[in-house]
Amino acid sequence: MGSLSRDDFTAHWALHDLGEVAVSAKEIADRVAELGRQVTRDYTGRPPLLVCVLKGALTFMSDLMRAIELPVEIDFMAVSSYGAATKTSGVVRIVKDLDVDLLNRDVIIVEDVVDSGLTLNYLRQYLGARNPRSLEVCALLLKEGEQRVEQSLKYVGFTIPADFVVGYGLDVNEKYRNLDAIYNFTGEV
Ligand code: IMP
Ligand code: MG
Repeated sequence: MGSLSRDDFTAHWALHDLGEVAVSAKEIADRVAELGRQVTRDYTGRPPLLVCVLKGALTFMSDLMRAIELPVEIDFMAVSSYGAATKTSGVVRIVKDLDVDLLNRDVIIVEDVVDSGLTLNYLRQYLGARNPRSLEVCALLLKEGEQRVEQSLKYVGFTIPADFVVGYGLDVNEKYRNLDAIYNFTGEV
């Protein structure tokens, strides 16, 4: 994956707390285009409902939905599992629920990062109980070797080391979401 390049040094206000580029903006764009083509191929004739898990997946969702050449619909959920810390508490709280009915829909959960897998595990059960026709996951990042819950992920953008990362939607204490690349975070939490 990407090493530090000059192009990634646009966010001067954030540099103090950032380490290496984990995934560059270019790598993200290329991979999202590829995922879009895969989803388009897999869901031709049955356009999916994309469920964005706020807030982290916002940026990914926004790019992904435009890379899918099908009449997709979108909706949003907000869950909280971390509080302000960088390790999961295991407790998932629904902060905002969906507006649409999932009955007989082909649903794709769009997630930012799967770490322990607890958040996704909870979401799958919660949404699966509403009788969608199918329920799959598209995760931008999968953390290597961190899963406490076995996951079958239909689409994964990148598998990354277990280090904490920020940018492209991912935050620490609500900051750094607006960086266009994904960086290792080296600052204080
Ligand atoms: P899990 O329940 O441990 O899989 O945690 C998943 C959630 O934790 C994600 O949806 C993110 O919001 C957050 N998260 C996990 N790892 C990171 C990271 O490296 N940076 C920012 N947020 C993270
Ligand atoms: Mg978060």
